[in-house]
Amino acid sequence: MAGVLVYVLIFLLSLLSCITKRRGKKELYKGVKLTPGSTGWPYIGETLQLYSQDPNVFFAEKQKRYGEIFKTHILGCPCVMLASAEAARFVLTQAHLFKPTYPKSKEHLIGPSALFFHQGDYHMRLRKLVQGSLSLDALRNLVVDISAIAASTLDSWNGGHVIDTFQEMKKFSFEVGILAIFGHLESHYREELKKNYRIVDKGYNSFPTSIPGTSYKKALTARKTLSKILSDIISERKEKRLLEKDLLGCLLNSKDDKGQVLTDDQIADNIIGVLFAAQDTTASALTWIVKYLHDNPKLLEAVKTEQKAIYKMNVEGNQPLSWSQTRNMPLTQKVVLESLRMASIISFTFREAVADVEYKGYLIPKGWKVMPLFRNIHHNPEYFSDPEKFDPSRFEVAPKPNTFMPFGSGVHACPGNELSKLEMLIIIHQLVSKFRWEVVGSQNGIQYGPFPVPLHGLPARFWKESTI
Ligand code: HEM
Repeated sequence: MAGVLVYVLIFLLSLLSCITKRRGKKELYKGVKLTPGSTGWPYIGETLQLYSQDPNVFFAEKQKRYGEIFKTHILGCPCVMLASAEAARFVLTQAHLFKPTYPKSKEHLIGPSALFFHQGDYHMRLRKLVQGSLSLDALRNLVVDISAIAASTLDSWNGGHVIDTFQEMKKFSFEVGILAIFGHLESHYREELKKNYRIVDKGYNSFPTSIPGTSYKKALTARKTLSKILSDIISERKEKRLLEKDLLGCLLNSKDDKGQVLTDDQIADNIIGVLFAAQDTTASALTWIVKYLHDNPKLLEAVKTEQKAIYKMNVEGNQPLSWSQTRNMPLTQKVVLESLRMASIISFTFREAVADVEYKGYLIPKGWKVMPLFRNIHHNPEYFSDPEKFDPSRFEVAPKPNTFMPFGSGVHACPGNELSKLEMLIIIHQLVSKFRWEVVGSQNGIQYGPFPVPLHGLPARFWKESTI
């Protein structure tokens, strides 16, 4: 009997404390409500629902049911998802209220000093350096070298054997990334970086554990080797006292207002970070472009006409493509933008509220994750009419403010956006001027790894037109 009484007492006390807490919250945030939505099962929340299906279905169902701002619970964290352009912009531009947040396992692989894990002075310092090395002025000097990488990439596809377009595009974007970071890097360093980076890349999305033999553990070991290789490259540069304008040069020459230089680890983490941010994103966008052009023969013909005129002007490709020619490809540029909208490579991003934040009468509690849903915004018929149609001509008119954010927005917006567009234009120029291709298999579909890619990486065959 006494036992039962104790239980009843405990129950009543917890109920009372719950009520008092709720009252406290209600009074603290008068007129402010929590976002609508559901949080699923304890701890696992709605993680399974999100990851066991096409994420767009999950988001679309939620949006239909609860509107443009809704809560859920994934990967052990309460989250607020934002499908409204205005709310996404609010979160991305209020850097003092929302900080970047990544799982620790990913931070260990990239390196904790990489700029995208930070905010404040350190972030701004690194950002300026990365932006400087990828500015338009710096990029105009890369056109010839990127063209050479594109030519040798495409030549290796010639002959009609089936290639995995995404994997091949990854090789291309990796080489361009290396060029932007190091300029002309000795081939033995390039091969060593490639070999170890591939292992890190493979482990990045695997289950994080230190058990020997697992992909994650192998990735951690390869990451250490990458630091060693980078430290050798850095020492060599320092010895030669070269004042290069590539990213490594910018990082090596930087001093803060107290005269402090960056440590080798800070430099290494940011180099791996930039390579990581540059490779799969660009490769995924390029794979979609190959698919969209293939699926729209009339559009492909029009793009060919635009590019072949430039090719002819350059004496059948015997003169190099110039910077000003890359700035004057109006149709191809719109194809790139429409591909970025349709594919929405970064479907969403994460931030964490550093304080309780009120937005339009809703409370976003401190510590909650906040996710701007770029893909939903890019596919909202209010912003883009007939959003599932691939239609580059929609970019003849500028999109409404804040509705087109393939490269994010605010202080963490992509500093590589101009480089990625440039490499896309250069390889498309060569692809449509010199090659024809066929997609193998008729299956449509998207694979998430985690970026969206056409099914099986878009298997395809390529032929050089002159050899047919
Ligand atoms: C199609 C290609 C690309 C897409 C779609 C893309 C997209 C994005 C997006 C959406 C962000 C912001 C993420 C957030 O706010 O959480 C971002 C950040 C970033 N991107 Fe890209 N990116 C691409 C290519 C590149 C390239 C080629 C580079 C470098 C050469 C690069 C370097 C970075 C870096 C360093 C950041 C972090 C910036 C910061 O935190 O301040 N990206 N990118």
